[in-house]
Order: sequence, then structure tokens, then C-alpha cells
Amino acid sequence: MFGLSEQNLSGRRCIWVNGPVIVGVGPSGLAVSACLREQGIPFVVIERADCIASLWQRCTYDRLKLHLPKKFCQLPKLPFPEEYPEYPTKRQFIRYLENYAKKFDIKPQFNESVQSAKYDKTCGVWRVKTVSTTGSFPSETEYICQKLVVATGENAEGVVPEIEGLQEFSGEVIHAKDYKSGEKYTGKKVLVVGCGNSGMEVSLDLSNHNAKPSMVVRSSVHVLPREILGKSTFDLAMMLMKWLPLWLVDKLLLILSWLILGNTQRYGIRRPNLGPLQLKNYHGKTPVLDIGALARIRSGDIKVVTGITRFHQSSVQLINGDILEIDSVVLATGYCSNVPYWLQESELFGKNGFPKRQSPNGWKGKEGLYAAGFTRRGLAGVSADAMKIAQDIGNDCKEELNQKKRKVATHRRCISTF
Ligand SMILES: Cc1cc2nc3c(=O)[nH]c(=O)nc-3n(C[C@H](O)[C@H](O)[C@H](O)COP(=O)(O)OP(=O)(O)OC[C@H]3O[C@@H](n4cnc5c(N)ncnc54)[C@H](O)[C@@H]3O)c2cc1C
Ligand SMILES: NC(=O)c1ccc[n+]([C@@H]2O[C@H](COP(=O)([O-])OP(=O)(O)OC[C@H]3O[C@@H](n4cnc5c(N)ncnc54)[C@H](OP(=O)(O)O)[C@@H]3O)[C@@H](O)[C@H]2O)c1
Repeated sequence: MFGLSEQNLSGRRCIWVNGPVIVGVGPSGLAVSACLREQGIPFVVIERADCIASLWQRCTYDRLKLHLPKKFCQLPKLPFPEEYPEYPTKRQFIRYLENYAKKFDIKPQFNESVQSAKYDKTCGVWRVKTVSTTGSFPSETEYICQKLVVATGENAEGVVPEIEGLQEFSGEVIHAKDYKSGEKYTGKKVLVVGCGNSGMEVSLDLSNHNAKPSMVVRSSVHVLPREILGKSTFDLAMMLMKWLPLWLVDKLLLILSWLILGNTQRYGIRRPNLGPLQLKNYHGKTPVLDIGALARIRSGDIKVVTGITRFHQSSVQLINGDILEIDSVVLATGYCSNVPYWLQESELFGKNGFPKRQSPNGWKGKEGLYAAGFTRRGLAGVSADAMKIAQDIGNDCKEELNQKKRKVATHRRCISTF
């Protein structure tokens, strides 16, 4: 796996990798690794955390379940166990991923964070610099490779918006990635900023624990039932999309949602002008799949409030002029990619850290660069990317091997005629 290892003068280790370097070992890094392993291609996986799937293990709340049916969420070459429910819990999903890593013998370099990666045109290689925090002192390593797979995820960092007065607020402020359960919030007035899938579910969890959540809805959002007539809404949409144009599927979904959920606008949740699938396709905005929050909004257990003007020491002022006394804040304000902070490249990836070309065309760049898991299609997109990337790398390896064989054959012929 490691071709050459040496200590250079600056104290940085330099390692030649005979195969691709994969950055990140979430579901994407795991899936690419497994598909490479099956072809016998060596690789190195670098992970900043101390475990696989750190987003799932460290940065998600306790009650989380996969929100799409399991058949859309399994990784290549290993189905979910039969006994798993239709929507596996976070614990079950992590167990599945741990078995996956074991089955395909994936052993990442843990506690090693990629600081920069740059293509060296002169030598035709990628130079990937990392800092490891495993020993007593941070140590630097430079990996040199011909192929680089970016698998650091769409949700690498939590977005913390700048809101006036937030520093003055004296209560606890956390991002949703650090929220585990509503247990410690019983009786507390909690402001949940954001109404995506995280904001809705955190509000529901708080309400389940007898806290008093107020959820900030500053713009519009599509809320769809997770299931329609016992069938997953996502599954239904996928089926309809085979036959009907996107706008028509959107219309049908909205009619069905209206029949099941009623008019969400009555509770302060406006729908965007563009339908849910079109909005996801063109702007990457995920619809909320309702798993109970809407009923709590209807009953008044979750209060919907307008956008924020500013925070004060123990309260928040809203755009409509209302002032709410609050004890804590949960920022369910989304996530972003961290690719622009470390990858020095501007052809495949845009400034927002996502591939410039839309899915399914954003997985491959130039000079052996690949993007795994940036399709905005969740785990289904992860698997599709991983298989294409591994296949492409496999083809290149075969081609390289054939070239070598041809060279040896020519050499042999030369020797025999000599
Ligand atoms: C709360 C929540 C719930 C979700 N639920 C679903 C769901 O039900 N279904 C679904 O399909 N999708 C869901 N998603 C989307 C989710 O992003 C994907 O399911 C999946 O985790 C993507 O896998 P990934 O490997 O691409 O990214 P990640 O899981 O984010 O893994 C990326 C890995 O890269 C590592 N990394 C990042 N930067 C560096 C660096 N510089 N150096 C080294 N390592 C680095 C990270 O530590 C991480 O381990 C959810 C997301 C969130 C936030
Ligand atoms: N499996 C599950 O059940 C599950 C659970 C949670 C999350 N997820 C997934 O995880 C990903 C991230 O979801 P997410 O909900 O964390 O993020 P998200 O979908 O990006 O939602 C972020 C929310 O924060 C709001 N926001 C941002 N800045 C704000 C500000 N300054 N003031 C007020 N509101 C602000 C946004 O409002 P605007 O729309 O106005 O910008 C939006 O409502 C999605 O893919 C989601 O599907 C899945």
C-alpha cells in the first residue's frame, strides 16, 4: 500500500501511495474503498475523526432514523440485514457501517486531518498534506499519489450564521450537530433556528421532553408526509418520475400532501413557488419529510415564529416585532462542505465546495481527481458515485497494467531477436 516512506528535512513524513488516497471515511469513503478492495486496488483512507462515519457517530441526535426506506440507503455490495426495519435507526445504520468496514477490511488513518491537497504538474502527482493528532505532538505527513478521491461530505461543517446580539445572549447556544436529546431541556424555553429536517425533528424531540420549543421559519419550506397511503413518499416520487415530468410529479405530491397534512400555511409554514422536487433539483433545497412535528405545530406544542432581528441577554427580537424570553438556542441552520478550505483546485469544485457540474456528471475531474457523495441525493447518490469512481480507477489500473505488459513483451522480443 505504501510505496516509499521517508522523513524529510522539515520533519514531515513523505509517503508515496501506490493507489488512490481517499479523504474521509463516512459512507462515501467506505463505499469507494469497498469497491476498490473488490478489484484488488490498494488505497489509503484518511479521516480526521477517531472513528468511521463520524457525522453519524458524533454529530447526530439520539432519535435519528434514516428518513428514506432502507433500499435507497444501503452501500454497494452489502445489503442491510433482513431484520432491519424499513427506516433503520442511527444505531443500526452505524452497526451496518462498522460491519461494512470490517467485511472489506477498511483500515483508515484516523485522527489525521487533510490540510491541503494540490496537483503537482511537474511530477504529475497529487500532494496531500495532513496533520495527525495521534501522538503527543501533532505530526505532519505528505502523501503523494496519482489519484485523489474527495469524500469529505456535503455536511462537513455546521453553519453558524452571524445574527446580531448572539454573543450577548447569556443562555446556551449550540448547533444541531451537538444536540443529542431534549432530556436536559425539560421545562425550558428553547429557540430552534431553522426549519429543515433537523429543525423540525429537534423541535419535535424537545416537545416530547416537555420543553417549550419555538421554531424560526424565516422563509418558505415544503413539508411532505414521509409516507403516502403506506408507501414512502420518496419511493412514490421516484416511481412517478419514470413516467411523468418533474413539474407534474410535484403537482401530484403537493395535492397528496395537502390531503394528508392540510394547508401548512395556516400554521406559518409557507410553501415555495417551485415544487419540492424541482426546488431540490435546481437549488439543492431538501424538502422536510414530516415524522410528527406538524401535528405538534398544529396542537401549539411547537410554536412557529418569524425571522430574527437580534438577540438580547435573555430574549430574542423577531422581525414582526415580538420579543420572546428564551433559555437556550439550537442552531439548526444547516451544513456546508469544507473542500474550498483544503483542496487547491477550481475545475471540478466550485467556491461552495460542491462539484460545478450537476449530478450525475460531477464525480470526475482532471488529473485523477474524484468527488464522492456530493450529488445532494443522500446515500443513494453516495453509492452511485462510489461504483463509478471505483470502476474508472479500475479501468485506468488495467490500462496501466496492459501497457506494462506490452512494454515487457516488446522488450522480450527485442532480446530474442538480438
Ligand atoms: C442529521 C443528518 C441526517 C441525515 N440523514 C440522512 C438520511 O436519512 N438519508 C440520507 O440519504 N442522507 C442523510 N443525511 C445526509 C448525509 O450527509 C449522508 O447520509 C452521508 O453521511 C454522506 O456520507 P459522506 O461520506 O459523503 O459524508 P460524511 O458522512 O459527512 O463523511 C465525511 C467524512 O469526512 C471526514 N472529513 C471531513 N473533512 C476532512 C478532512 N479535511 N480530512 C480528513 N477527513 C475529513 C469527516 O470527519 C467525515 O467522517 C443526513 C445528514 C445529516 C446531517
Ligand atoms: N434522516 C433524517 O431524518 C434527517 C434529519 C435531519 C437532517 N437530515 C438531512 O441533513 C441535511 C441537512 O438538514 P438541516 O435541516 O440540518 O439543514 P438545511 O436543510 O440546510 O436547513 C437549514 C435551515 O436553517 C435555516 N436558516 C439558516 N440560517 C438561518 C438564519 N440566519 N435565520 C433563520 N433561519 C436560518 C434555513 O432557512 P432558509 O431555507 O430560509 O435558508 C433552513 O430552514 C439535509 O440533507 C437533511 O435532509 C436528515
